[in-house]
Amino acid sequence: MELYVDTANIEHIRHCAELGFVSGVTTNPSLLAQEDPNVDIKQRILEIHKLIGGHLSVEVISTDTKGMLKEADEILSWFPDATIKIPMIPAGLAAVKELNNNDIPTNVTLVFTPTQAMAAANAGATYVSVFMGRLDDISTPSNEVLNTVCDIWETQGYDALIIAASIRHSQHLIDAALAGADIATVPYKVLMQSLGHPLTETGLKQFLADYDRMQTERMKAIGV
Ligand code: G3P
Repeated sequence: MELYVDTANIEHIRHCAELGFVSGVTTNPSLLAQEDPNVDIKQRILEIHKLIGGHLSVEVISTDTKGMLKEADEILSWFPDATIKIPMIPAGLAAVKELNNNDIPTNVTLVFTPTQAMAAANAGATYVSVFMGRLDDISTPSNEVLNTVCDIWETQGYDALIIAASIRHSQHLIDAALAGADIATVPYKVLMQSLGHPLTETGLKQFLADYDRMQTERMKAIGV
């Protein structure tokens, strides 16, 4: 399962790019606004694109097909390998179909049910983003929904890649990987938390202390 970072924060994206374990970025209007409500969106998206060099999903804000397609054209004029993020509404499906006919990758977002996921795939979505955290927030077990979507994909042979989105903690990552999601898009904080363990820290401290002790003993032995 590939990992993307779900953010519009430049420093966080830069750090992930340096570490090399993240292969893409997903953004949405809320994430952009969270960083800076006055942000020049085009500038910010181009900065992110330069940093990550891999997948970058950019969301449209229109709710009609024509408007979405116009926005897609605009985004593609900024950088041609953009993935256009489209909301899971009927007008969005028509936009996905049109973009797919023109070989433009799409990421259908705000998917909460298997039937929405199938509709997105049938319209020609390249990626289908199933939201986990927001389902758990309303007491709908997200792992069950994602498992069902992945089972349907297996049975039906859908090509669209499944993105586990709205990830809140490491267990979501594990559930997504076990279900068979192709990608998880994860907030920076959760990504960083998923890398650590107290035993890793104490273990490393001990290794370094033992190495230092060894060096000191050796210096003593050779009389330095
Ligand atoms: O980017 C889409 C999704 O991952 C947003 O997640 O945390 O706002 O529910 P969240």
